Amino acid sequence: MTVQEKIAKLISEMTLEEKAALCSGQGPWHTQAIQRLGLPAMLVTDGPHGVRLAEKPETLEWNNRPATCFPTNAAVASSWDPQLVKEIGQALAAECKEMGVHVLLGPGINLKRSPLGGRNFEYYSEDPYLTGQMGTAFVQGLQERGVGASLKHFAANNQEFERMTIDAHIDERTLREIYLSGFEQVVKEAKPWTVMCAYNRINGVYGSENSYLLTDILREEWGFEGFVVSDWGATEDRVVGLKAGLDLEMPGPAPANDRRIVEAVQRGELDEAVLDETVRRYLTVLFQALEGQKTKEPVDWDAHHALARRAAAESMVLLKNYDQTLPLQIDQLEELAVIGHFAMTPRFQGGGSSKVNPRRLDIPLEEIRAAAAPAVRVTYAPGYLESGEADPQLIAEAVDNARRASVAVVFAGLPDRIESEGYDRPHINLPENQVQLIEAVARVQPRTVVVLNNGSAVAMTPWIGSVPAVLEAWLPGQAGGGAIADILFGKVNPSGRLAETFPMTLRDNPSYLNFPGENGVVRYGEGLFVGYRYYDKKGIRPLFPFGYGLSYTKFAYEGLELSCQELKDTDSLTVSLTVTNVGEVAGKEVVQLYVRPHQSRLVRPEKELKAFAKVYLEPGQAKQVQLQLQPRDFAYYDPAYRDWVVEEGDYDILVAKSAAETVLSAAVHIEATRQWRRPLTRDSSIKDWMNDEKGRQVLQSVLPPEQLEMFMSSDSELAAMFSAMPIKKLVSFSQGRLTEEHLEQMIAAANS
Ligand code: GLC
Repeated sequence: MTVQEKIAKLISEMTLEEKAALCSGQGPWHTQAIQRLGLPAMLVTDGPHGVRLAEKPETLEWNNRPATCFPTNAAVASSWDPQLVKEIGQALAAECKEMGVHVLLGPGINLKRSPLGGRNFEYYSEDPYLTGQMGTAFVQGLQERGVGASLKHFAANNQEFERMTIDAHIDERTLREIYLSGFEQVVKEAKPWTVMCAYNRINGVYGSENSYLLTDILREEWGFEGFVVSDWGATEDRVVGLKAGLDLEMPGPAPANDRRIVEAVQRGELDEAVLDETVRRYLTVLFQALEGQKTKEPVDWDAHHALARRAAAESMVLLKNYDQTLPLQIDQLEELAVIGHFAMTPRFQGGGSSKVNPRRLDIPLEEIRAAAAPAVRVTYAPGYLESGEADPQLIAEAVDNARRASVAVVFAGLPDRIESEGYDRPHINLPENQVQLIEAVARVQPRTVVVLNNGSAVAMTPWIGSVPAVLEAWLPGQAGGGAIADILFGKVNPSGRLAETFPMTLRDNPSYLNFPGENGVVRYGEGLFVGYRYYDKKGIRPLFPFGYGLSYTKFAYEGLELSCQELKDTDSLTVSLTVTNVGEVAGKEVVQLYVRPHQSRLVRPEKELKAFAKVYLEPGQAKQVQLQLQPRDFAYYDPAYRDWVVEEGDYDILVAKSAAETVLSAAVHIEATRQWRRPLTRDSSIKDWMNDEKGRQVLQSVLPPEQLEMFMSSDSELAAMFSAMPIKKLVSFSQGRLTEEHLEQMIAAANS
């Protein structure tokens, strides 16, 4: 008997009450068991960068079992290394099975629409392609080791402000091309066992009741076969949700809603077949999960810590390194001043449901001491209070240390009280007491290095001109302290690249005018132009562009070749080039490939990221990099056709080091084999009708030749005026010759 046959048999033996019971949890983290049928509960828990399992998961207590705290998504996305993310997924699966967890509630892949988003630390990027690549790798890594993922939060959960009620108004193209396409990639390429619906409304309908998203798109278009679980407490009307495609309500128990499901079936308001399908989906995942748990292996916690350290180091982005301040040369240091509260009390993850109880925690100061000892004397001064209060004494003490030292390393960033699930940031500045500290230290110590621990872009303009080096260390997980020391002393050559733009000022950000919304609605007024798409289109120079990051070495690019210059909209394209390490030390380069249409019927971003590769190169080593583009990489979504369109025309293939630095480019021409015809309507212009073969034939059969000539003569402004008119106006100008009935017949004939 196949699994599905077994499931069908179970469903046939279930009572209506038992079926309804499976539609909600047994407790906060367990799904429902049905002892009579031998169906155990599943244990699900957060989160995206570590297993956050309560000691007593049957309660809502928040004291969590120790687990490896990996770098958060904002960090790992900056590694631009899907293989690394996959390894993290595999490690998380091992820890899940150690604790009996069947489904891990991650990855969170919502886009960083505004740097103010309180959960941006938990999300990957402003770009849907990079997001999709990272999410796919995570889900593959987790699930191939037998633990389910929960792809979240579907969809457009891009802020914390009023997150459980806000209504995100997003036009169809923006929704498809920007906020859904990362989910689409992961669902199609990694097949997550579950998807978690978002709290918020999307165009007026709650994520938990949005059948357009949960059924039409997720299941019917993308082929999702798992089950949809609500975000915790996201369920609104349980029966409406079930019909829309919400299979499992969490947390449980929800006896009243289970009852409502039973009564809806009994009253004929809910087709039992819909309930059966939900139960089938749930049982399919349950059996997958039970199977997955069979391959437990002992967790190598040290190996996981080492992986966390490697991942953190791979994710850190060297933003500034004037006069080769970094890496620190131990033989050139007598005293090193380590400054900042975060050096002793590391800021290594974000606040909220993803917060892990780390099995161990590297202290940056200790790691720096270990790396520099015994040759270098390392001093410490807290420099600021985490509370944000000013304390001139702390600054004075830090300045004294900095003045005496060869180099000062200042740890700054965003504390939990500023950046967390549940609330957004009011601005993107660092806490004022940290800014004052950085400026005071830089005034006495020209060799000042700033290390940042934050989950999303921060403004640096007040102080960045005064310091020669800045390392973006993100929220780097439990091993972040060791990773920072590895980078500072050159044990690891930084290779991270920004997965989000750092604007000069918040007001430059495209969402500035509309974030976070008002009166219960947030308008995605910037449309497609999120992140670099906006800065490009507007010609606004950011502080640091998407894809940016420095290295301790240098890379040269040459020999761009395309597999063809002419292709059809059904062909793939291979792009190859050679990258050489022309510096003194080994390093990794992230080759980025953007596609730029020369023209298009609809407005489009200047260019969009469509492929990338991270390559390791020894000094002097050259490697050929090959990247593949598929037809969809040239497409945009056209609501007029409710489909993705590859328009005939010329496109630039841009090989870049960041969104602001193209190093090689070549053009291709695409021939469209699919003819796109928009149905002619009464509002279509006469020009549209004349440019359409059938439309023209119909007009020729109805209008006198001299009138047609008037419309089409290209050198008269009269023609220009009339041909722009919607066809329906011909009735008004035909002196009775053309009636509404004629018009309806013409439209039917033209579209037949
Ligand atoms: C939270 C979060 C979600 C998390 C869930 C369970 O509200 O939005 O990401 O997985 O509830 O903690």
